[in-house]
Amino acid sequence: MNHWNPPLRKNILTHRASKLRSSSRERTVEPQNSNGWILPESALCPFLEMAEVPFCILHVDGSIMYAGKSFLQLLGHSDALEINGHAFCDFLVDHKPFEFPKEDQSPVSNGEIQLKRKSGEVISVSLSTMRLSSFQNKEALLCIFKEPSGKKWISDQLLHSQKLAALGQLTSGIAHDFNNLISGIIGCASILLSEIDPQNPVYQDIQTILSASQKAADLVGRLLAYSREVPYQKKPTSINALIQDLLNMLTRTFRKDIEIRTRLDKDLPAVEADANYLQQALLNICLNARDAMPKGGQLTITTKSVYLSPQMAEEKSGLLPGIYVQIRIRDTGIGMDPETQKKIFEPFFTTKQDQGGNGLGLAIAYEVIKKHRGGIFVKSKQGKGTVFEI
Ligand SMILES: Nc1ncnc2c1ncn2[C@@H]1O[C@H](COP(=O)(O)OP(=O)(O)O)[C@@H](O)[C@H]1O
Ligand SMILES: [Mg+2]
Repeated sequence: MNHWNPPLRKNILTHRASKLRSSSRERTVEPQNSNGWILPESALCPFLEMAEVPFCILHVDGSIMYAGKSFLQLLGHSDALEINGHAFCDFLVDHKPFEFPKEDQSPVSNGEIQLKRKSGEVISVSLSTMRLSSFQNKEALLCIFKEPSGKKWISDQLLHSQKLAALGQLTSGIAHDFNNLISGIIGCASILLSEIDPQNPVYQDIQTILSASQKAADLVGRLLAYSREVPYQKKPTSINALIQDLLNMLTRTFRKDIEIRTRLDKDLPAVEADANYLQQALLNICLNARDAMPKGGQLTITTKSVYLSPQMAEEKSGLLPGIYVQIRIRDTGIGMDPETQKKIFEPFFTTKQDQGGNGLGLAIAYEVIKKHRGGIFVKSKQGKGTVFEI
């Protein structure tokens, strides 16, 4: 921890204790660190803001009196009102009330803590604190947050999931507009068709318009799965039963050179899920597995219940610790190179242009699983196969 290095303190923050005491005693933050420097309250926040240090100042009751801009950003908030006045522990994953140090006024390193971002995602930070004897005339605690050593503030995966969320919103907006346009085309083409003699030379053309626009409507319907307004009807659902149902469909439709295996944990807890959407997501993944095995292979679906410790949850960025149902879908197909793996959840990304791929299967699966407060992760090696873990 090196936030209190002497040169900066001398240049920007400091006034000799004696000077300040005589002029504006109430506006100071004191006592000071061991070197005898004291910080005027009016300089503290602007300085930390200028240095882009994520920080906040807590009241003795644990509420946030002041949240710096970088701290807001770190938590994914843009409005200080969403943070100021709230209990600091509301932003902690474990919700433990924050212990206010009794006497010590020197900086204390509190180790690593886990913060909850507005999106629900979890990030680890190192916290250092220092007791202030006066901030806005109250006793307070300065909290400074730092990247834990060897880790990034926001993982690449988290940035990636934010990008996907933005793409999802964009796609949903376009889908709504298209939906309205296509409804108009289908409506008019249907009316024309009902009024025109089938012998008329344009009858065929109108039929082509109608069938093309119905295909477009189907595609847009799939895009609408993105829409935030799509109501999910969640109820306690047996994932094993849902997979069994899916298997009935797969065994009837997959080529016989694809062997389907299952290992389903009998003691799986029920999950709050919209079975239709979740089944669609799993189906999309299985269809990709089929496409990846043009010469046949094995598709294995496994379920088990897992406990994610805070550390494991953090590694699976964005999940909260707790008990989860894990579904793994493994194929022995062509696999993917790392570049492809980075893009697969983006809407419209496909490597199957000539096979009629639309690049929506995994984008939809991703959205559906996010809306079930789950995560989807991929491991793949070219020529070796792919595992999706949900
Ligand atoms: N199991 C898999 N094995 C290999 N590649 C896969 C697998 N699943 C997905 N992919 C890759 O991800 C891309 C996107 O998948 P998806 O969103 O379902 O769109 P589409 O299947 O229409 O191409 C695929 O085009 C393919 O390159
Ligand atoms: Mg697909």
